[in-house]
Amino acid sequence: MKDTAQPQDVDSAGLRSRAVEALTAARTRTELLTSCIDDAELTAQHSPLMSPLVWDLAHIGNQEELWLLRNVAGRDAMRPEIDSVYDAFEHPRSARPTLPLLAPAEARTYAAEVRGRALDVLERSPLRGAPLVYDAFAFGMVAQHEQQHDETMLITHQLRRGPTALTAPPPPSAPDGAALLPGEVLVPGGPFTMGTSVEPWALDNERPAHATFVPAFHVDTTPVSCGAYLRFVEDGGYTEPRWWEAAGWAMVREHGLTAPLFWRCEGGQWLRRHFGATEPVPLDEPVLHVSWYEADAYARWAGRRLPSEAEWEKAARHDPASGRSMRYPWGDADPTPERANLGQRHLRPAPVGAYPAGESPLGVRQLIGDVWEWTSSDFLPYPGFAPFPYREYSEVFFGPGHKVLRGGCFGVDPVACRGTFRNWDLPVRRQIFAGFRTARDASEGEF
Ligand code: AVJ
Ligand code: FE
Repeated sequence: MKDTAQPQDVDSAGLRSRAVEALTAARTRTELLTSCIDDAELTAQHSPLMSPLVWDLAHIGNQEELWLLRNVAGRDAMRPEIDSVYDAFEHPRSARPTLPLLAPAEARTYAAEVRGRALDVLERSPLRGAPLVYDAFAFGMVAQHEQQHDETMLITHQLRRGPTALTAPPPPSAPDGAALLPGEVLVPGGPFTMGTSVEPWALDNERPAHATFVPAFHVDTTPVSCGAYLRFVEDGGYTEPRWWEAAGWAMVREHGLTAPLFWRCEGGQWLRRHFGATEPVPLDEPVLHVSWYEADAYARWAGRRLPSEAEWEKAARHDPASGRSMRYPWGDADPTPERANLGQRHLRPAPVGAYPAGESPLGVRQLIGDVWEWTSSDFLPYPGFAPFPYREYSEVFFGPGHKVLRGGCFGVDPVACRGTFRNWDLPVRRQIFAGFRTARDASEGEF
């Protein structure tokens, strides 16, 4: 399989220090998200869609203990009685406030104790041999898991009432001339290698690399902006069943939806609540907090459609010069602050057209970072998929119930964001940092 995209070759010592850095960066962010509010707010439920933050905190420690101390190092459970409390499959989020949760101080101490031992295990563990430790996979997986829960906690902060406890500088503006970018880009038809077999910390659902044929299509140069989405809203988009899938229309009717989550219209002006502040809807920023059904309806209204997952990945990884699939739109190098809005450095997406240094060879911008992008595709296994290291990470979610999101957002750490990274959620979900871009088939004669 032609899958030559390789991270810079790193030896065992390099991977060990990478794993230490990734684990440490994740814990710094966890601490930031959980030290800025008091114990009452850590144990409160800010939305029935979310866990109390103190659940995420101890769950992070519990998963780390399970994978790095028990499975990698063969140790006994430190606190066997808490396992079921922090098993995400045993208790839905809405029920978690009623569980016998560790208090904030206990949760912190537990997570810190696990971490101390895990770093010790990492220091001694061979990084060749067993698949779980090969290239420090389990350590990278645990760092990604913590960062994923950090993003979940960031969503809880967005849902929380009152002034926000978080601050960050604004993202860069779009460069001069961004308004003159072509609206869409033609991606040529032909074979494309999707997924990866070589990225050391790629998760099971990204594997293996496999050839797929993607016919020519046009894709938006940037994510759909709030301004563009507002035209759909003001054109009566939420009152016209013809734009909606049946289940999406039912959702609109049942909940009386009129606009994205957190938007409201007051005296003719569209406002939104964003991390505790009410602000005019930022017309030049990618639209945020729309469900898959809303993205799909907008695309139909615009005479377009959502890109499939394969189309999205081809737009993000295909290098027309070499025919090769790259790790990122800009090439094989890791993300930097100049290339993509990742890692909670900012608390919002950058305006559409920003990050020229992150564009693909064909000129598509902001594929990585800013907002998660809904695709038209169901979350399904690639040919040759094998669950690893546990069925509950991906396999139990495969099927038509979940739609795939790609590209990460401002709240995703680079360790959990790649051209191959797959996220998924229910098509009704709106609290996640999701937007979208649209596509259309190329006509005959266009390659
Ligand atoms: C991949 C983001 C859908 O948060 O449900 C966290 C990641 N898996 N703990 C989720 C995950 C187990 C997962 N998503
Ligand atoms: Fe988890």
